[in-house]
Amino acid sequence: MALSVYLGLLRPWQKLMVGSTASVMTSKWSRCSSVLSEHRLRMVEKSPNSTDPETLGSQCVRTIHGKQQQQATPVSRAVFPPQAVFKRRLSALCGSSEVQEGALILEKVCLNEAARMVEVGWSGGGVSRFPYVWLRDNCQCPQCFNPDSRSRLVLMSDLDVNVSPVRVDVQGGSSLSVEWPDGHQSQYDRHWLRERCFSTRALSERERDWQRTTQLWGAELAHNLPKADFPALLTDDRALYDFLVRLDSVGLVLVQNVPCDVGQVEKLANRVAFLKQTCFGKDFEVVTKMNPSDLAFTSVQLGLHIDLPSYNYTPGVQMLHCIEQTTGEGGDNSLVDGFNAASQLKEENPDAFRLLSTVKVNFIYVGTDHHKYFFRTRQNIISLDDQGEVQSITYMDLSRSSILDLHADLVQPFYDALKAFNTIMYLPRNCLSLKMSAGELIIFDNTRTLHGRSAYSPDSGTRHLQGGYMDWDEIYSRMRAIKADLGIKA
Ligand code: OGA
Ligand code: ZN
Ligand code: ZN
Repeated sequence: MALSVYLGLLRPWQKLMVGSTASVMTSKWSRCSSVLSEHRLRMVEKSPNSTDPETLGSQCVRTIHGKQQQQATPVSRAVFPPQAVFKRRLSALCGSSEVQEGALILEKVCLNEAARMVEVGWSGGGVSRFPYVWLRDNCQCPQCFNPDSRSRLVLMSDLDVNVSPVRVDVQGGSSLSVEWPDGHQSQYDRHWLRERCFSTRALSERERDWQRTTQLWGAELAHNLPKADFPALLTDDRALYDFLVRLDSVGLVLVQNVPCDVGQVEKLANRVAFLKQTCFGKDFEVVTKMNPSDLAFTSVQLGLHIDLPSYNYTPGVQMLHCIEQTTGEGGDNSLVDGFNAASQLKEENPDAFRLLSTVKVNFIYVGTDHHKYFFRTRQNIISLDDQGEVQSITYMDLSRSSILDLHADLVQPFYDALKAFNTIMYLPRNCLSLKMSAGELIIFDNTRTLHGRSAYSPDSGTRHLQGGYMDWDEIYSRMRAIKADLGIKA
């Protein structure tokens, strides 16, 4: 699996098996004397692959620049060792071969006034273009960038977006220096620049880093359930990382050897970051209660659902730790990969898929638990990202409001569509059944993996689960941090 996916993950939910094989560079990098460009001189000597449309051409650059602007926040440059990130970028940029560490030389530089870009030529061939305004905005000097907090100090209010360099230079082949009209001097390291290249190839390589690897599954996963050892997760960062990778790609992991007392979901969450609090409080006990605020706190069957669909910020992940299991029949959990079910619906019944991914449904949750609450949201049952890929599933019969803000003519087709989706979810090939034993914990993606429970008899001993939630931002953040700490390569 391509772990590099996590370098800058924004969780776009694209179902994509990202290849982990970076091409290998064969060309030799020779050290060269730096060519000092004259102030506002055009580059006379084109690099060997200057015909590459990705490296030259103002038309092309404008397109690229526009695209880059749409691409939100920069990849976590502060967190990842530049070399690790860079290696992938460089091979993508050059389209061939192994990078020899330290062999990247900034060979020449010039100003392209028409495009308002600084063009740098690399020793192995190729030209990268950096817009003037971007360079000024990203000056790395201590006046412009605080290295401790890794934050830009330059405020947009103070940035002249029409600024042009008065002088550019390459220093020892390793950095670009730029002088600005007010005398301010900026230095840019060659690796730093290469990582931020605006070429089409570099952009598409970086795009892959934002995509997610998703492994679809059905009931057969029961024979190959991703598993993790609780004590190892508490002590071993690599085990924790591998576990989180599985949680992300599969959306379900069974954790074993968990002590049979309360507080374990919090312990696990604290290894990642912390629990997400909800109307149930920090965590919650799933037992039969006298005046239940939720049907989960009874012994009745729970249909397939995700938790708290009435939240706009639905918990990203749910943990259910089995402290005591009923000695009688029932109390089994059913688990379904909602992405897999949605893709089957799309294939078999595209109209139903279209309806469920466009029509908004109200979810409502009113009651008292940790405090008095009144939640409501409007959600697509199947949410798509801007590429049309399934991004999340929001489904729970208990909280589906009777207020359906749809044209009356759409109501029957909506029910038909929902029924079709529901039928697919419950197909034996899709619905995995698992009866946890005391000391086991399931953790699953609450925006993808639907869970349910078969009814059990409250007279057959106590059944006690403890539940808790976490959010994906915290999980991804932890994964990136561990990856950097342990130097895990893609
Ligand atoms: C829940 C839930 C399932 C169970 O608490 O969210 O769905 O097995 N519980 O009791
Ligand atoms: Zn500066
Ligand atoms: Zn639930």
